[in-house]
Amino acid sequence: MNLKDLQVQGRVALVRVDFNVPVADGKVTDTQRIEAARETIDFLRESGAKVVLMSHRGRPKGQPSEKFAMEPVRRAAEEVLGHEVKGIFSQDVVDDGVRQKVEALAPGEVALLENLRFRPEEEKNDPAFARELAGLADVFVNDAFGTAHRAHASNVGVAQYLPSALGFLMDREVTVLSELMEQPKRPFVAILGGAKISDKIPVIDHLLSKVDKILIGGAMGNTFLLAKGYETGKSLVEEGQVAQAQEFMSRAEAMGVDLLIPVDVVVTDNLDVPTVVETKDASAMGADDLAVDIGEKTVALYGDALADAKSVIWNGPLGVFEQEPFDKGTMAVAEILAGLDANRVIGGGDSAAAIKKGGYEDKMSHISSGGGASLEFLEGKVLPGIAAIGGGEEEQK
Ligand code: 3PG
Repeated sequence: MNLKDLQVQGRVALVRVDFNVPVADGKVTDTQRIEAARETIDFLRESGAKVVLMSHRGRPKGQPSEKFAMEPVRRAAEEVLGHEVKGIFSQDVVDDGVRQKVEALAPGEVALLENLRFRPEEEKNDPAFARELAGLADVFVNDAFGTAHRAHASNVGVAQYLPSALGFLMDREVTVLSELMEQPKRPFVAILGGAKISDKIPVIDHLLSKVDKILIGGAMGNTFLLAKGYETGKSLVEEGQVAQAQEFMSRAEAMGVDLLIPVDVVVTDNLDVPTVVETKDASAMGADDLAVDIGEKTVALYGDALADAKSVIWNGPLGVFEQEPFDKGTMAVAEILAGLDANRVIGGGDSAAAIKKGGYEDKMSHISSGGGASLEFLEGKVLPGIAAIGGGEEEQK
């Protein structure tokens, strides 16, 4: 069901959002996820709904905890959205007091419930808790793409008990990612980084049949270098994944996919106290070298590979980008992407943070609001939070 088809005038719309935002000293330090939910919230308010927002924050392990309370998020939401957001907070999330306050809401008003993960039943997708949540409302809207890879009471369970629809953010994420995977303009290039190849096996596996080129970076690249027979010194590698890396390289070759790995790397002696920082050919690392970034030749190689790209997906930084000067490779590739005339989609999490750090947000076609969720989407998995709406369990092609 489309959000615009739900009957919401004068009714309570329970909206699952992903307000799992960072908080320091009682203040939300990144409000992007709140901003991302604005369109759905505004639409519901303007349609005369009584809007009840609900989200998890952090991992309080089923226990109420001041550290993970939603009050700082409520304050940030008021600032970002520019209107009142009432806190309907109970450590039980739902109780008689909460029910009364929800009933008392006027059309157009917006409220926020307490952290859903204060209840252990949330992550267990407990039907009784899902019914408690559903009992607050007349319709359910899921706009929490960042949580779509979880099957919890507030995004999957609750959908069984109420007429439901995807929110605008969720809809946009699904549309962009589906189009990219189903009908990409070609050449289609994937840039994959991050620490561990083991985390990325399913995504490489799936993307090999979709893309024309894969550019590898991050510590994951070291395992590919080891698979080529190079010395990797003290660099982070997964020896148990060398055979997998070899298999990916042979499969890519057989399928005509260009799988590029670093030709040079920035090495240091110690990540915490670097006294040496130099660039070496990937085949020339010594026993004491610790690879922390891709080098300039690799940036140039990847720039050439991207030059004619019409679609790009990027997931995972290409070096230790949180730590200067080891952010250079990641930032250089971000800059190259900014200058391309292509559909550029950025996975959430670290890649989104790198784009933000470079100030390139406006240049990208889409920055996903979900790290884990976008990764699982790229693996070809059905995301339970999406499948639950409209009841579609059909396998994603
Ligand atoms: C996220 O930030 O990736 C989502 O909010 C999901 O959080 P989780 O990994 O704790 O389930």
